[in-house]
Amino acid sequence: MKSITWMAAIAATAILSACSGEASKPVAEAPAEPTREEIIAHGKYIVEGVGMCGDCHTPMLPDGSYDATRSLAGAPTPGAPPPPGVPFALISVAIAGLPDGYTEDSLATFLSDGTPGDGSPPLPPMPHYRMNAHDARATAAYLASLPKPAPATPPT
Ligand code: HEC
Repeated sequence: MKSITWMAAIAATAILSACSGEASKPVAEAPAEPTREEIIAHGKYIVEGVGMCGDCHTPMLPDGSYDATRSLAGAPTPGAPPPPGVPFALISVAIAGLPDGYTEDSLATFLSDGTPGDGSPPLPPMPHYRMNAHDARATAAYLASLPKPAPATPPT
């Protein structure tokens, strides 16, 4: 008997809180436009956590770690060279501060449908990203927010 009373009390509380939750919600809540900071933070997450742009666009130090002082500054492409005759780019371009020939808008377009900024599509192993508009815009905004790296010093 006691346990039934308790169950009824719990059920009543659950119903009450569900109702009050509903009542306190405004009827039509328009989603707030993300701020520039929020868009850039989402782009940072895509560049560093999903697209792994640094794997190919950040040079490595001799110990195999990424060179934080040259982050996204362009790098020799990792991995074994492809068989002769297979199109392949041996170095990637600088993308911090936007790659040469790109605006923030044209970079977002490139990342969503593959249209290159300068009219010539990049060679493999640059992946063919097909980001949705939100992710592409955020990625381009984040890269635009970074300082443009100094040109790489050629290896001696
Ligand atoms: C697997 C390696 C790899 C990854 C990962 C990668 N890239 Fe690249 N990317 C390259 C290479 C190599 C090039 C140079 C291609 C060329 O010279 O034709 C390049 C070129 C580019 C270009 C220039 C395209 C053009 O018009 O020539 C842009 C922009 C770019 N990458 C952006 C990105 C972004 C943003 C990310 C992450 C979301 C990324 N890349 C991840 C290897 C990579």
